Amino acid sequence: MTVKISLIAAVAENGVIGKDNWMPWHIKSEFQYFKNTTMGRPIVMGRKSFEALGKPLPGRQNIVVTRDRNYKAAGVIVTHSVEDGIGIARDIAKKEGLDEIFIGGGSEIYKLSLPDADRLYLTEIHLKPEGDTYFPPFDRGDWKEIKREFHPKKEGETADYTITVLERKLPKG
Ligand SMILES: NC(=O)c1ccc[n+]([C@@H]2O[C@H](COP(=O)([O-])OP(=O)(O)OC[C@H]3O[C@@H](n4cnc5c(N)ncnc54)[C@H](OP(=O)(O)O)[C@@H]3O)[C@@H](O)[C@H]2O)c1
Repeated sequence: MTVKISLIAAVAENGVIGKDNWMPWHIKSEFQYFKNTTMGRPIVMGRKSFEALGKPLPGRQNIVVTRDRNYKAAGVIVTHSVEDGIGIARDIAKKEGLDEIFIGGGSEIYKLSLPDADRLYLTEIHLKPEGDTYFPPFDRGDWKEIKREFHPKKEGETADYTITVLERKLPKG
């Protein structure tokens, strides 16, 4: 079975994905979408994103990428390159009969893993907030949109959003 490599990100209209190590919006139902989509699958993330979460995402094997050879955190696998992280996630997926692994950010890890990605779960957040972290630029022409679903904001949420899923048109490399 081939294991798909999927990036999942919530991206504002100006490309912002983070500010002061968190997201500059509050959208509970989009978090729920992230949870439902990634649940049960291994997820690779950068050390900063992991520390922003504060604890491992439950129900998913968390793989944290850092250059710090002494880094330790309970309940996660620590690795020292994105390639190794993807390799570990793939091995787990194969062992568990799963067909997909996730890259959960942040900016640095998205940038390094985009060339390997088969699928992008990009939620467009309909805001243009100030931020300090951006989704890396990529060529939309290389990707086919297979899903687009608008969600108006619910009570207590700070923005409307549109769920999109893109698949790579041509084989990688
Ligand atoms: N909107 C979204 O969907 C979303 C998703 C995730 C995160 N975010 C936001 O993104 C921001 C964090 O993103 P970020 O880009 O600053 O950080 P990040 O990608 O989460 O983590 C960066 C860290 O990863 C490690 N790293 C990076 N390249 C590496 C390499 N080649 N080899 C080994 N380790 C490497 C380094 O850890 P060490 O410094 O420990 O060596 C580096 O400091 C936060 O604001 C967060 O809220 C948003």
